[in-house]
Amino acid sequence: MSHEEFPTDRPAVVTCGLPYANGDLHIGHLRTYVGGDVYARALRKLGQETAFVSGSDMHGTPVAVNAEQEGVSPEAFALEWHETYEATFPKFGVDFDNYGHTHDATNVETTTELVRTLEENGHVYEKEIMVAYDPAEEQSLPDRYVEGTCPYCGARARGDECDEGCGRHLEPGEIEDPESTITGNPAEYREQTHKFFRVSDFQEYLGEFIDRLEGTPNARNQPREWIEGELRDWCITRDMDWGIDYPSEESDLVLYVWVDAPIEYLSSTKQYTERVGADVFDWAEAWKGSPDEHGESGGEIVHVIGRDIIQHHTVFWPAMLRGADYDEPRAVMASGFITLNGEGFSTSRNRAVWADEYLDEGFEPDLLRYYLATNGGFQQDVDFSWERFRERVNNELVGTVGNFAYRSLLFAYREFGGTPDADLSPEVRERIEDAVDDFAAAVNDYSVRDAGDAAVALAGFGNEYIQQNEPWNLVDDDPERAAQVLRDCVQVAKAVAVLFAPVAPDTCERLWSQVGGEGSVHDVTVDAALEAPAATFDEPDELYEKIPAERVEELNAKLDERVEAAASGTDESEADEGDADGDVAADEATLDLDPLEAERIGFEEFESLDVRVGEILEAEGIEGADKLARLVVDIGVEERQIVAGIKQLHDLEALPGTRVIVLANLERAELFGVESNGMVLAAGEEADLLTTVDDAVPGERVR
Ligand code: MF3
Ligand code: ZN
Repeated sequence: MSHEEFPTDRPAVVTCGLPYANGDLHIGHLRTYVGGDVYARALRKLGQETAFVSGSDMHGTPVAVNAEQEGVSPEAFALEWHETYEATFPKFGVDFDNYGHTHDATNVETTTELVRTLEENGHVYEKEIMVAYDPAEEQSLPDRYVEGTCPYCGARARGDECDEGCGRHLEPGEIEDPESTITGNPAEYREQTHKFFRVSDFQEYLGEFIDRLEGTPNARNQPREWIEGELRDWCITRDMDWGIDYPSEESDLVLYVWVDAPIEYLSSTKQYTERVGADVFDWAEAWKGSPDEHGESGGEIVHVIGRDIIQHHTVFWPAMLRGADYDEPRAVMASGFITLNGEGFSTSRNRAVWADEYLDEGFEPDLLRYYLATNGGFQQDVDFSWERFRERVNNELVGTVGNFAYRSLLFAYREFGGTPDADLSPEVRERIEDAVDDFAAAVNDYSVRDAGDAAVALAGFGNEYIQQNEPWNLVDDDPERAAQVLRDCVQVAKAVAVLFAPVAPDTCERLWSQVGGEGSVHDVTVDAALEAPAATFDEPDELYEKIPAERVEELNAKLDERVEAAASGTDESEADEGDADGDVAADEATLDLDPLEAERIGFEEFESLDVRVGEILEAEGIEGADKLARLVVDIGVEERQIVAGIKQLHDLEALPGTRVIVLANLERAELFGVESNGMVLAAGEEADLLTTVDDAVPGERVR
């Protein structure tokens, strides 16, 4: 791994969190896969050698419990879902270089070997612990076989995760008031011997690792509290049949699913190498390359995941890699949740837009990809609604990208049979160069949305350019000028095809061939954006089609009907499904902008707000609170202690010295036992802090 800007001369591996092979995919699940795919394609566009891998997560209780409900063996059950996923991803343009599964021979072997290495390196020990047990069924109750109360936050929780509360991983024996999910009876605790991974060996290492880690701010900031606190060791075995056997003769336990699942990242890369040859992509160089002159080794590993599994990817997994002599990840990108019309997706209530359903409705994958990739920042929560979908398709894909490409190319084709013979004008060259720079900056910023926006903004420029220069009025009087304008437009269209290809791979492939591009747009890098387009090309056709308003009504009606049908047929009290990739949320706000306040206020009322310029002096996370940070802010007249919900959204260490805007006469409040005396103003879900553009000094009033 290096910390050089992309592209580097090391191989990169982009991975997506493994979906549990246990049920239908809906478009909420697709968010991280589309995000990962866009990111991998964007890296390649920069010329970075990149493998994009994932696989199905076959083991553990998430699979075993569901298989049991269906009355089939976990293996048959998981394999069937695996095959479905393998077929579904490509239909959304999610094009893994390798998609394996955790039960295949490669992963069993890699896992066995890795765990042996951890043992040899002295990181594994045995301990007697109390595990939940169902006396009626005479069986142990690992993980999802038991539910109860989270000992940390008091929320209802599963055996191994507080999925509705604080999000923590729970160790066997930790859950309070345990109940068997098989019989519903109270569970007993019984003593059993298990294997533990000594995560505490890596306390110091992880403290340094998290400072180096790149990616989205949530993934870099959320784990600090765990890493800076005392790290607890991790039970890596389970008393059940389904899983990978613990690699030792005496043990009849299997490995905890969270051990063999991330190892699939390695195994899947290995399989890719086996297929294409190490000269094309060398998994070993990527995962454990030898140190260079700076002492840095390996390739650039980027994990793309849902935000509910940050702890696994920033604590357990890097410790495992380190303990078994592999290189560490360079970045973790953790996506926010996704909601449907402002409420959570729910499999049990059939409240979802299913992946197959989307395709059956005849929509192209690129439309959804665009929506998922750019409707919010990657770590932000995103709401899906058919209305908003239609708006974005009609305004941006049809109105901006499609409209610009079609009118430019059609006109160039009609008047010149292709690209007019003229030099690209310096102004337009510069605009394209800027777009390429924005795109590269977005990739280096791990911002999928900004990468997509760079291309759409360029198309927007093209639209204005053609509109202002009106080549249709020039062809007769000033044909040379008309040729110049259209030459510029065709170049912009070509650049859009290149830069937008990661987000909209199918339609950009079409656009690429419309401008007479050779081969595939997916084989070229950003340099192609400025290479001369073909002298001749065929008549273009439109890239995107408008979605009529009636379609939205229809689709909403279908959804309502389905939810109602499910409600009358099933138990409504059934909890919302909250597993899989964490892209399911129950109560997240929608992303649509609030309407403006209907009522006006007088100036006096405004004057009653005492708003001041401040400067942050100190910033630290509040222990036990997921989101809250304690700030000390100098507001000129005095120093204030203010609690702000920015813990995971900002790098707290970098905040001191930042100028902020403070509402000074807000009532005092107490949050998590800490007094908050004022409010720091911030915009949007990512808590973008308000500041001043010049050098107003702390204490000055804002009006
Ligand atoms: N299957 C897990 C989930 O859906 C994710 C596994 S990701 C990996 O929460 F890191 F283990 F690969
Ligand atoms: Zn909890």
